[in-house]
Amino acid sequence: MVQVNTNYLKLKAGYLFPEISRRIKDFSSKNQNVDLIRLGIGDVTEPLPLACRDAMKAAIEEMGTEEGFRGYGPEQGYQWLRESISKNDYLSRGCDISAEEIFVSDGSKCDSSNILDILGKDNKIAVTDPVYPVYVDTNVMTGRTGEANLAGEYQGLSYIPINSENGFEAAIPKEKFDLIYLCFPNNPTGAVATREQLASWVKYAKENNSLILFDAAYEAFIKDDSIPHSIFEIEGSKDCAIEFRSFSKNAGFTGTRCAFTVIPRCLKGQAGLEEVDLWSLWNRRQSTKFNGVSYVVQRGAEAVYSKEGQIQIKKLVSFYMDNAQIIKSNLTAAGFEVFGAVNAPYAWIKTPKNMNSWDFFDFLLEKANVVGTPGSGFGAAGEGYFRLSAFNSRENVEKAMKRIVKL
Ligand code: MLT
Repeated sequence: MVQVNTNYLKLKAGYLFPEISRRIKDFSSKNQNVDLIRLGIGDVTEPLPLACRDAMKAAIEEMGTEEGFRGYGPEQGYQWLRESISKNDYLSRGCDISAEEIFVSDGSKCDSSNILDILGKDNKIAVTDPVYPVYVDTNVMTGRTGEANLAGEYQGLSYIPINSENGFEAAIPKEKFDLIYLCFPNNPTGAVATREQLASWVKYAKENNSLILFDAAYEAFIKDDSIPHSIFEIEGSKDCAIEFRSFSKNAGFTGTRCAFTVIPRCLKGQAGLEEVDLWSLWNRRQSTKFNGVSYVVQRGAEAVYSKEGQIQIKKLVSFYMDNAQIIKSNLTAAGFEVFGAVNAPYAWIKTPKNMNSWDFFDFLLEKANVVGTPGSGFGAAGEGYFRLSAFNSRENVEKAMKRIVKL
């Protein structure tokens, strides 16, 4: 019989969101015709911006002509999209990131997992706790950890707690880690990192020859002008960071799929005593394992940077951020302790009466018919917290708040 990858057997629980779906299905089968409001997974609900749709329609028509038809595209993404990203997301903010350093992909979730392909197995790894579960689970799946303890922490991974006591700011470690995952604006807590905080991380990484995997999928939701949108706004970061970005949340591409990863040309790793550049390894990996994002979708992503596209995505982002504000103000007025939801589309709520996260999940599901995400699903330090997503219609967010406040 075929042998399986036994690392998968170490995984503590099903992936968080399928587990939530399972519970909802179970609840719905016993409670038919219930009007459930889903503020769980951060999946967008508003239509794709018109500029993106128009560009995609035009691209489809082009593909229907002899001259406009395209087969395989470049594995790294079309040059015009990479140039647009470089110009609009980086050069405009003073970050010296060239088109060549941008790899277009089908998602940040995939990229933040696949990056492990080019990194050694013996790196010392640190994640925050709570954390986006993909970073942890993919390290488990690829055999970079031992078993989990009762708290769900895997041997071989180090967890840096972020909680209300430290203002959801991970302390710079005293020991040396080779690989550090950071996500700002943070999923799940909604916290952001100041320029000074990011500069401290870059200083740490440079002093310790560490690599920072920086997930900036939610950068578009930053309202405070003093908060950096990219790790590359910090001097020296090109020597120690990779950044993941996405069109999923800012432009509603969760179903359409388009994202990108930035790997600076100067970024080095080590193979024994030799220095190796990570850009070349990732390029090699993508050329072998990936055939690129469809032409049509990349044209849609390019339209995000058009004049109309920019107006439309700003409207989309502020629509969701108004939802976040509605969630925050209603729950705060009702006596909940609410974090985040100011520069991020997630509200991170302390559960009432010290309820545990899954009990609060079941309580909200049954009593308010509202779905959220239990904080403990993001790590042991998330226990006693609960995440509500601002991605839903105004009507649903308002209805959900009325129901929760009434409880
Ligand atoms: C979340 O709810 O945490 C996100 O939707 C996950 C993701 O973007 O993959």
